Amino acid sequence: MSLDIVILAAGQGTRMRSALPKVLHPVAGKSMLGHVIDTARELQPQGIHVVIGHGADTVRERLAGDDLNFVMQTEQLGTGHAVAQALPALTAERVLILYGDVPLIEKSTLERLLLQVSDQQLGLLTVTLADPTGYGRIVRNAAGQVEAIVEHKDASEAQRLITEGNTGILAVPASKLGEWLGRLSNSNAQGEYYLTDVIAMAVNDGLVVATEQPLDAMEVQGANDRIQLAELERHYQQRAARALMTQGVTLRDPARFDLRGEVTVGRDVMIDINVILEGKVVIEDGVQIGANCFIKDSILRKGVVVKANSHLEGAEMGEGSDCGPFARLRPGAVLGKKAHVGNFVELKNAVLGEGAKAGHLSYLGDAEIGARSNIGAGTITCNYDGANKHRTVMGEDVFIGSNSSLVAPVSLGDRAVTGAGSVITSEVPVDNLAVGRARQRNIAGWKRPVKNK
Ligand code: UD1
Ligand code: CA
Repeated sequence: MSLDIVILAAGQGTRMRSALPKVLHPVAGKSMLGHVIDTARELQPQGIHVVIGHGADTVRERLAGDDLNFVMQTEQLGTGHAVAQALPALTAERVLILYGDVPLIEKSTLERLLLQVSDQQLGLLTVTLADPTGYGRIVRNAAGQVEAIVEHKDASEAQRLITEGNTGILAVPASKLGEWLGRLSNSNAQGEYYLTDVIAMAVNDGLVVATEQPLDAMEVQGANDRIQLAELERHYQQRAARALMTQGVTLRDPARFDLRGEVTVGRDVMIDINVILEGKVVIEDGVQIGANCFIKDSILRKGVVVKANSHLEGAEMGEGSDCGPFARLRPGAVLGKKAHVGNFVELKNAVLGEGAKAGHLSYLGDAEIGARSNIGAGTITCNYDGANKHRTVMGEDVFIGSNSSLVAPVSLGDRAVTGAGSVITSEVPVDNLAVGRARQRNIAGWKRPVKNK
């Protein structure tokens, strides 16, 4: 049966106390609504319809996608009214309702729910809670069949004792939805058009309401304030940490690890505390990552060692290479096999050949460094003339003396050597030594100044 998904995301989220629309607040580096949309996509529906209202322009701008249909709800008159706004765009046989502020819902739970939907049956996701205050309550008859949902504010004392709550997530046959929504009234405690009233209408029309529950109650937890947002974040991170450990990663402390994107891992990877992985990260077998590292959109080949406090973005580290502590690899930094980058070294758009080394205190930008070359401490590629960027290209087995300035564009042949403190402004041919500094002069009998009395 074909499927349309409607995501409700028009609410204000007053308790966030934020200029940012609630559904754009991030969990694990991605907006809550982004999580819901991605999960919706995994179900490969015919259409995804996002109902927006508060901060609509910002939401539309941030999440625009060819496969998304944004529907405007100018006034928030209730969840039933919100779904009704999407109605004209719905064409599939089944409709699944999700919420932009309930980000951790799992695909597998939704698949179970969707299996319940037929012409004669709808699927309702419920959750049994020790304290269901605020939730709509699932009212069942003596035979245990669902008859209605009563909102907390409309519920009697007896109904408030029901611990089975409505998650809000539901899947219905599309054929009757329009008619049901058209019959909703707002004469209730909140003066809203409740989507939940559809349940009693369906039962009246002879349909069966089948229920499913999530495996984990956090899947259906919404975020109304920043405290709940932090709870969702922690839950997400725990789940991510467990998944990695299951795949063979040692996390020195799973409570001090953050994943804000996607990572693929090999075997016997070791990650020390306070490591943040962001974007798309690839970590191969035997990689070790020290404490306090930030790694974004990077590839770490077999046996790489990233020492503590290193910052990587858009970098690729070859097999057996290492960097840090305190290394900074910026976009386009590529380390060959067994290359070595030491402390306080910054690379940007720079390729370090196999076995090449830059051990200390260097800036290497727009550079190509041949295999086994050694970059002395304090070496700087002067790649920017104030207007344009220029390249530094060196061959294999080059030795750059400490504190050399390589004024680009400039090239150095294989086995070239520069004297310490040199300013290199023109080509150094193969096997040449370049000394680009003033000759030392000694002044005998030099009198040091003395303090005025
Ligand atoms: C709703 C359910 C309740 C359930 C609870 C679970 C109804 C009437 N009640 O209550 O049974 O236990 O969720 O959290 O559905 N929204 C719109 N437009 C609107 C109104 C709401 O987009 O006009 C969106 C909100 O942004 C929010 C979601 O729908 O993301 C739920 O709305 P909310 O008003 O928070 O419903 P609850 O009172 O929590
Ligand atoms: Ca709510």
